[in-house]
Order: sequence, then structure tokens, then C-alpha cells
Amino acid sequence: MIENSKVLVTGGAGFIGSNLVDRLLAQNNQVVCLDNFSTGKLENLEKALKNPEFILIEGDIRNYDDCRKAVVGCTCVLHQAALGSVPRSIADPVTSTDVNIGGFVKMMFAAKDEGVGRFVYASSSSVYGDHSGLPKVEHQIGKALSPYAVTKYADELLAANFSAMYGIETVGLRYFNVFGPRQDPSGSYAAVVPKFINSIINHENLHVFGDGTFSRDFTYIENVLQAIQLAASTPSSIIKERQQAYYKRNQELRVPGISETIAEVFNTAVGQYTSIAELADTLKRILARFDHTLARVDVTYGPARPGDVPHSMASCEKSQAILGYKPTHTISQGLEETCNWHWQRAHLNVRQ
Ligand SMILES: NC(=O)c1ccc[n+]([C@@H]2O[C@H](COP(=O)([O-])OP(=O)(O)OC[C@H]3O[C@@H](n4cnc5c(N)ncnc54)[C@H](O)[C@@H]3O)[C@@H](O)[C@H]2O)c1
Repeated sequence: MIENSKVLVTGGAGFIGSNLVDRLLAQNNQVVCLDNFSTGKLENLEKALKNPEFILIEGDIRNYDDCRKAVVGCTCVLHQAALGSVPRSIADPVTSTDVNIGGFVKMMFAAKDEGVGRFVYASSSSVYGDHSGLPKVEHQIGKALSPYAVTKYADELLAANFSAMYGIETVGLRYFNVFGPRQDPSGSYAAVVPKFINSIINHENLHVFGDGTFSRDFTYIENVLQAIQLAASTPSSIIKERQQAYYKRNQELRVPGISETIAEVFNTAVGQYTSIAELADTLKRILARFDHTLARVDVTYGPARPGDVPHSMASCEKSQAILGYKPTHTISQGLEETCNWHWQRAHLNVRQ
């Protein structure tokens, strides 16, 4: 756990970032949030803004001065700011690469210039691209299928290079379809879980891209918060010790030298898959407990979207072996909590 530290969360007004901000504040940290509110919302920070240990900097990761100002005095950076969504990156690759690669380098460079020890960043399961192997293991990736995937892979390469060049430790977390409270259900780039929940609550048909057999390793936000904290707080000596044991067990991999600066990537997932059709059924079943007519919402199917991989499920072996990561929430537990949150928000106007 990260405690009694000053930490920078970029993208702290977004879904993952704002949950992280609240958790870090609850653990007696001073938290700086750098966000340009392009997809993030001030309402996500309603609770944080009441805490004197919270500092909000409205700025852009594409501006080095904003990055430098935000990172002053921080022991680590938890970099979440990016433009998510595969379809968005296909529609506008210029802005996605500008933010996700250009902004990433500026933030990491500012962190290095400020003497930050470790830079933990959000990568993505999209890095696995067209590699068909399952479960996904960190060292076997395929060809990227979207500009978004390219940006996340470029970040991993840049992070490894920065560690070698400048000695800043970097840890990338390849998130697999994260879901939970505060994830935005609106707009054409919304993720499938909040989008389906919102449609069901509004008695609207669910539209599936493809025949519903595509599957994902849906990961509840609590598991992601755990992975981020382990990635940031596990001492270097422990990571190095565990790296030696892990890489020696996997003989085709090069064992990192003990004096090398840490530059790692880890899957952040549960290690279970759920098809999109199953997801739709489960969400209807959970929400029908609030209103039984919701069980009648129809599901329609259409062509698959370009850039979407058919199946995605992680091996969590490496994250478990080196970070001690152990997911605490199954998809069912997470979906129950998430449906509950959306229902309350829609019907009781409760902000959480
Ligand atoms: N949600 C997922 O399933 C998932 C999966 C894989 C990876 N990721 C990655 O996790 C991170 C967080 O994702 P999220 O789901 O919380 O998305 P989000 O859109 O809710 O949050 C991203 C935040 O970054 C901010 N931001 C964007 N561009 C910025 C810029 N130029 N300067 C400053 N702030 C900027 C946004 O305003 C927003 O608050 C992203 O890096 C995303 O690529 C998410």
C-alpha cells in the first residue's frame, strides 16, 4: 500500500484515476491530480476536493511545464492520463498519438527531471494485438490492430528505454477491460460494461458488435487499484529478487541483470473470460432485481468492429510472482457493485 507519501496521479479526473485518488487520500497520502478534463469530470473529484491533502492542477500532459509543476516533490507518478478507446484512435489517430505517446514522454521526462524514483503507467491488453495465444503472457505479443494499441506499445518501449538511459524505474500495467463505478456510460466511445448497464436501465436494446462470442477478461476496478499500489510500493530489492526467480523459471527469457534499472510490464486482470453475450445476460439478470421488466430488454447483433480482438484473457502468473498481485474481486462481484452504483445514480441521484 502507498501511505504517507506525495503522489501524482495523471488523469485523476477519469474513471480509474479518480478511484485511485480517493483510495490514496483515504490512506493518508498527499495526492496531486493533473488532468485536462478532456474525458474526465469534476464530479468524479467531488469527494477529493473536500480533502486538504488533495491538489488539483488543470493542465495537459502534452505541456512539459504542466507536467513539471505537477510532479514537484512526488515520490512516484501513477500515470493514467491518455485518450482511451480503439475506435476513437481509428477516427482520430493524430490526437490519440499526440496525447498517448507525446504526452507520455513529456510526463516521464518531467518525472525523471524531478528525480522521481518510479513511474507506474497504464498500458493495455490491446498490446497483444493479433497474437492468438491464450492466456496472454507478457512476452508474447502480436501485431497491433489499432493506433491505440500502437500508442500503448510505444509507451512500453519508451519506458524501457528511459529506464536504461536515465535510471528511472518504470512499471507498465496492461489493464484488461477495467470496469466499475464512475466509468462513463455515455458517448460513442463508451466501454461495453457501462454502456450496456445504461441501455438496460433505460429499457434500450443492447447492440453487440459481432455474434456475441468475442470474450474479454473483465477486471473490476478494485483489482486494478491493488496492482497499481503494488507496482508503486514494492521495494526495488524485492522486485529484483523475484525477477531472478521468475525469469529463471521461464528459460526462453533473458534474466535481467541485478544492477539493471527496473523496467517491467505486467498483466492486470483476473484470468477468466466472459463472452459479450454472457455479459449482456448477466447484467440483465442483476438489474432485473431492481425492476423485473428489465429482463425483457432485447439484444441485437451486427458486424464486428475493426481493431477489436476476438478473445482476450490474461495470465496473471508474472504479476503474482513479481508483484504479489492477487485479484480479490471476481467479475460477478464487480458487476453487482457496478450495477448497484449505476442504479443508485440513475434513480436516487446519489453521487459516490
Ligand atoms: N478502462 C479500461 O478498460 C482501460 C483498459 C486498458 C487501459 N486503460 C488505460 O487506463 C488509463 C485510464 O483510463 P480510464 O478508463 O480511466 O479513462 P478516462 O478517459 O476515464 O480517464 C483518462 C483521464 O485522462 C485525462 N486526460 C486525457 N488526455 C489528457 C491530457 N492531454 N492531459 C491531461 N489529462 C488528460 C482525461 O481527462 C481523463 O480524466 C488510460 O491510460 C487508458 O488508456 C484503460
